[in-house]
Amino acid sequence: MKCCSAVLVAVAVSAILLPGCKQSGSSTSGGALIGIAMPETHVTHWVKDGATLKAEAEKRGYHAEVQFGDADQSIQNRQIQTLLGLDAKLLIVGSVSADVAPAIAEAAQKKTVVIAFDRLIQNSADYDYFITFNGDKIGVLQGQSLVDALGLENADPKAPKSLALFAGSITDANAFSFYDGAMSVLNPYIEKGVLKVIGPYPKTSADRDAFGKIATGWQSSTAKNLMDNLLKNEAKNITLNAVLSPNDNIARAIIDVCRTDAKYKGNLPLVTGLDGEFESMMLVKSGEQLCTVFKNTTQLSEAAIVLADQILKGQTPDIPGAYLAEGPLEKLGDTGKKVVKTYLIDPVLVTKENINVPVDAGFYTASESEALR
Ligand code: BGC
Repeated sequence: MKCCSAVLVAVAVSAILLPGCKQSGSSTSGGALIGIAMPETHVTHWVKDGATLKAEAEKRGYHAEVQFGDADQSIQNRQIQTLLGLDAKLLIVGSVSADVAPAIAEAAQKKTVVIAFDRLIQNSADYDYFITFNGDKIGVLQGQSLVDALGLENADPKAPKSLALFAGSITDANAFSFYDGAMSVLNPYIEKGVLKVIGPYPKTSADRDAFGKIATGWQSSTAKNLMDNLLKNEAKNITLNAVLSPNDNIARAIIDVCRTDAKYKGNLPLVTGLDGEFESMMLVKSGEQLCTVFKNTTQLSEAAIVLADQILKGQTPDIPGAYLAEGPLEKLGDTGKKVVKTYLIDPVLVTKENINVPVDAGFYTASESEALR
């Protein structure tokens, strides 16, 4: 009873706050409601994506409502229930964790189509579509950029380069793909003895105990604590040459901690990233962050709405710029309960040399673009 009234209040509030959002009578394809559930706001791309998804949906005559889950699955599940209460015909979900599955089951019961957006919804057989970036490739790009920048091809095992490892969240399948992609490139150099891991060394994400020790939960505060600990303990008597960081937000946390240690003054480790966040792009430009990986999530958001539109119109999906995961890539869509149809877009490595790529793609505001040129 309590829960129902909470949902009703949320529905009412949401309808008042979001005039573009109709509660019923919107069942014709054109005016139907597309519900958008994004996981969090502390990583900028989700905020941008929420806005782009809404705008692209409205451009095609749909109503759209966006909710942000504050990295809390119980909040996101309530938001999804609210969207279902508003009679959403389709949901686009960037999930917080696998515990979104019960809310997805409710959507299936209501015959609401679900598209997993940028994060696989794990442990569910209640949906059919996933649209994302090739996560293996993201990790490979991060790993390869370290190999190149450290000159590992010609490195001497008598003077191995040192590397610390960081990962995303144990609740996010992306974190596993990114890490495994990167380690597929780095492990051979570790085995050759030219690269030495300082701190925990999960050879792959399958070593969940060790992986848990380098996982940040995508939170910069956790990354700061881990890095601080590392510098005070395992890395106390050496100077790290490189750090594998899964995204930009974590990269900046790592760099910030290094800045507090005198031996890294003017001598920061080579740190990888992901997302092409403006603040990190500035650090790539100044040489303080080695690289970022650009996921054009504006393109992903548009592609997700094209997919949504085609599904709602009963057409066979055919999305410009995205390809269907086939062969070994099908594993990216394996929820543990079924393999969902997965559409992929390729990410691009961005270093000082090609910093113009995301800028030219129109990914930033005019003043940000100006600063990056
Ligand atoms: C996304 C990354 C993002 C991270 C933290 C991952 O699932 O793929 O782009 O940086 O979540 O929000």
